[in-house]
Amino acid sequence: MKLVLLGAPGAGKGTQADFIKAALKVPVISTGNLLREAIARETELGQKAKQYMDGGNLVPDELIIGLVKEKLQSPDCASGAIFDGFPRTVAQAEALDAFAAPELALSIEVPDEAIVHRMAGRRTCPRCGSTYHVVGNPPRVEGICDKCGETLGIRKDDAPAVVLQRLEVYHAQTEPVKEHYARQNKLREVSGIGSVEEIRERIFQAMEEGL
Ligand code: AP5
Repeated sequence: MKLVLLGAPGAGKGTQADFIKAALKVPVISTGNLLREAIARETELGQKAKQYMDGGNLVPDELIIGLVKEKLQSPDCASGAIFDGFPRTVAQAEALDAFAAPELALSIEVPDEAIVHRMAGRRTCPRCGSTYHVVGNPPRVEGICDKCGETLGIRKDDAPAVVLQRLEVYHAQTEPVKEHYARQNKLREVSGIGSVEEIRERIFQAMEEGL
């Protein structure tokens, strides 16, 4: 099973990917998390990606496509994967179709105003990539990751000015990806407004209908 999760920055893709992973028993490939790991390890990819990410812009297609292709080679992806944050351009979607066409694309729809509020309260685990929200989805112990015990931090690209740039990039470059999957009759749109659990239910229903 290969499933694409689409949605604006902060729409809740990472939060919901965890539930889908547990249900489908396939790994999540989050290009954002892979890039942040590469930056932390100071790899060549990380050094190239950092300037784009800090400014709220997309990392060039060729770097991302190579990264995802390589990740898909790992044995744990033998039964499929959930793609979180990929594809983000029509060129990436076309590339994915050529090497691992997804069965379904789920788009989590959240208006820009709600995104700005969510990003302001997001806390992220620098070790395992888990995300929380100080009000909407707090960790059990304030400031500490439930999953690995690391101290939570704030992503550099969650600064308000960078969030606005990321939203602009999303509308210009990533929204057309929805049309790409709609033409293939693989797109399902789900409202991302409501509690985390409500959205999880909507997603599971859309998956049942769409698969
Ligand atoms: P990436 O890490 O993929 O960021 P993103 O798509 O902008 O998405 P986010 O991780 O910010 O948000 P999310 O939708 O996962 O939301 P979350 O669940 O955390 O990419 C970062 C950068 O890397 C890009 O800008 C780009 O430079 C580069 N990049 C990555 N992939 C690329 C690609 N394919 N091509 C080119 N460049 C690429 O939720 C957000 C917050 O809301 C959290 O605090 C959460 O707790 C909270 N929340 C979730 N659900 C709810 C709810 N229902 N109610 C209230 N709060 C909620």
